[in-house]
Amino acid sequence: MATTVPLIQIKDLYKEYIGQNDKVVALSDINLNINKGDIYGIIGMSGAGKSTLVRCINFLEKPTRGTVIIGDKDLSELNETQLRNVRQKVGMIFQQFNLLMQRNVEDNICFPLEISGMRRKERKKRAAELLEIVGLSDKRLAYPSQLSGGQKQRVAIARALATNPEILLCDEATSALDPTMTRSILGLLKDINNKLGITIIIITHEMAVVEGICDYVAIIDEGHLTEDGKVEEVFSNPKTDAARKLVYHSNNAVKEMTGKKCVRIVFDGKSSFEPVIANMVLECRSQVNILFADTKNIKGKAFGHMVLQLPEDQMQADKIINYLRGKDVNVEELIDYVGN
Ligand SMILES: Nc1ncnc2c1ncn2[C@@H]1O[C@H](COP(=O)(O)OP(=O)(O)O)[C@@H](O)[C@H]1O
Ligand SMILES: [Mg+2]
Repeated sequence: MATTVPLIQIKDLYKEYIGQNDKVVALSDINLNINKGDIYGIIGMSGAGKSTLVRCINFLEKPTRGTVIIGDKDLSELNETQLRNVRQKVGMIFQQFNLLMQRNVEDNICFPLEISGMRRKERKKRAAELLEIVGLSDKRLAYPSQLSGGQKQRVAIARALATNPEILLCDEATSALDPTMTRSILGLLKDINNKLGITIIIITHEMAVVEGICDYVAIIDEGHLTEDGKVEEVFSNPKTDAARKLVYHSNNAVKEMTGKKCVRIVFDGKSSFEPVIANMVLECRSQVNILFADTKNIKGKAFGHMVLQLPEDQMQADKIINYLRGKDVNVEELIDYVGN
């Protein structure tokens, strides 16, 4: 059986950042094999080392020690020109889409093709094919500012696919999107994996994303890979603390509201109501009860206030409070709330 060699072999990967006074070990001896055609999830909390790992996979960032082998190429043995060739086969997409705002959709998609020296007519033809794949043929001449977040990510996906990569690296690609758009982007990635046979690595802090689309998952915690395997196996029987933290803090685990902790949140027109609450549930992975609400939606902006009952778990409750404060919503903690 000649085809059993994994497409990507990450070997003893170690990365440290040296600051003026200190040293951060971002990745510590990571070993991982990813087979051709897999959708592989890498999940961990913020600061775990996920983004460092994606940048190291194609040597955009040089590891301190260890290596990555893609196909038959050991990246640590390649010169810059050879590395650039390998990187053409590895597309990337990010949370913030990274589109060129002054270029229209077609020109954004054509950008990597221009760099690779493809002629204008061929570039346009390829862009049309890619727009078809991502379902945006009617937006060819639109500018990024005219698109929704989900549409922007579709453009970024088309651009990443332009050079016919074998691998697509997705770093928190759905983290800026609401649940509906998240689902549609995950559906598109699944489609691309099916139809084009592209191996996909999904980096995320959200368990729902891994459950929704991945075959395999690796858990990364403080730079260490703590567990890896089939998604059902790892999530149904998490063995390490890091895995348990992720799994039991998911929506499914917090089925009943037992908390007595309440907060009043005040909307003063700086944010809109829907995405704040929807994203809070998605991002904090826990439920809240709305005990009281008196809000008005004026031209898409929310005014008024509501009282939320938070989970008993202090960490979960704090996470929600911090999230809301980060969204320009005033949050006031209520002791012994007894109704309005
Ligand atoms: N360029 C850098 N210089 C110094 N420290 C960094 C740099 N990039 C990341 N780090 C540190 O490495 C750790 C892992 O970061 P990162 O890979 O971005 O994590 P994640 O994507 O999981 O949130 C963090 O402690 C972060 O502060
Ligand atoms: Mg990151």
